[in-house]
Amino acid sequence: MPVDWSKKVVVITGASSGIGAACALALAQRRTTLVLGARRMDKLQAVADKAKACGSQVIIAPCDVAIHENVVTLVQSAKERFGRLDVAIANAGFGLRSPVHLTTPEQLREIWNVNVMGTWYVMAAAAPIMINQHAGHIIVVSSAIARRSIPQMGAYAMTKSAQLSLAEAQRLELSRHGVAVSSVHPVTTSTEFFQQASRRSGKQVDGLGKTQTPELVAEKIVRLIEHPKPELWPFSPVRYALALAAAFPALADFLISRQFSAPQKIKNRV
Ligand SMILES: NC(=O)c1ccc[n+]([C@@H]2O[C@H](COP(=O)([O-])OP(=O)(O)OC[C@H]3O[C@@H](n4cnc5c(N)ncnc54)[C@H](OP(=O)(O)O)[C@@H]3O)[C@@H](O)[C@H]2O)c1
Repeated sequence: MPVDWSKKVVVITGASSGIGAACALALAQRRTTLVLGARRMDKLQAVADKAKACGSQVIIAPCDVAIHENVVTLVQSAKERFGRLDVAIANAGFGLRSPVHLTTPEQLREIWNVNVMGTWYVMAAAAPIMINQHAGHIIVVSSAIARRSIPQMGAYAMTKSAQLSLAEAQRLELSRHGVAVSSVHPVTTSTEFFQQASRRSGKQVDGLGKTQTPELVAEKIVRLIEHPKPELWPFSPVRYALALAAAFPALADFLISRQFSAPQKIKNRV
């Protein structure tokens, strides 16, 4: 049956830019009701204004995903204001480039708190509402790096693997309640991600290889909502390379270190 988008209520964290903002606008074009959170309210308001211009109902709220109450308030406001919650997209996150032994405890805690705790807060707040409805879809925006780490991105990759583990477990826990859980694994996507990661790392962070637009990733997420499946790999060939890397870790080490030992190629894939 085709999805009646105008009846759907979707919560998105990190909706002020990049993939989160693109998802909001792709859904707004379908007149979906949106509950959007982020910290930069000026940017979030600009996304909301565009979404409203498409005919969507939109509410926005300041939401630092590292703060539990902020996320609970955001997720519950969907139910309180619109009476239901169909989709929760745990998207907020940031990257860091640092060798494992030089990463500070503060850096590690911060990236964990935002990328993992911030995701878990969404999953934990959305689940009871969706179980009660016997319907819903939790979407976790992880990364292609979730299945194979690379030099200098260990802390970031750790958070993306953790998100994947949470999603795999929750999918099996909630399927009998009619609730779907999916993880999304983008390759390099042209967003503010790299500026933010460079600022936090004190050095340049660039993507590597195939680059996609946030709009393309968002359209694939819209299709994922229409047809839920366990994992979405917006650039599917990488999935098969990662399966090979899992089967042959020594070969993967060799190929990855060759890639990263050429100075002109020291870039970070996320
Ligand atoms: N770009 C890529 O190449 C790529 C590849 C794979 C996976 N991803 C993942 O995709 C997701 C979205 O990233 P993006 O590429 O769209 O980057 P982006 O343009 O930098 O967007 C990140 C979003 O997360 C929000 N955010 C960051 N820290 C937050 C916090 N503490 N609390 C609430 N919101 C926070 C930002 O909003 P505020 O700053 O306004 O709060 C922003 O809206 C991330 O989880 C990232 O790991 C990105």
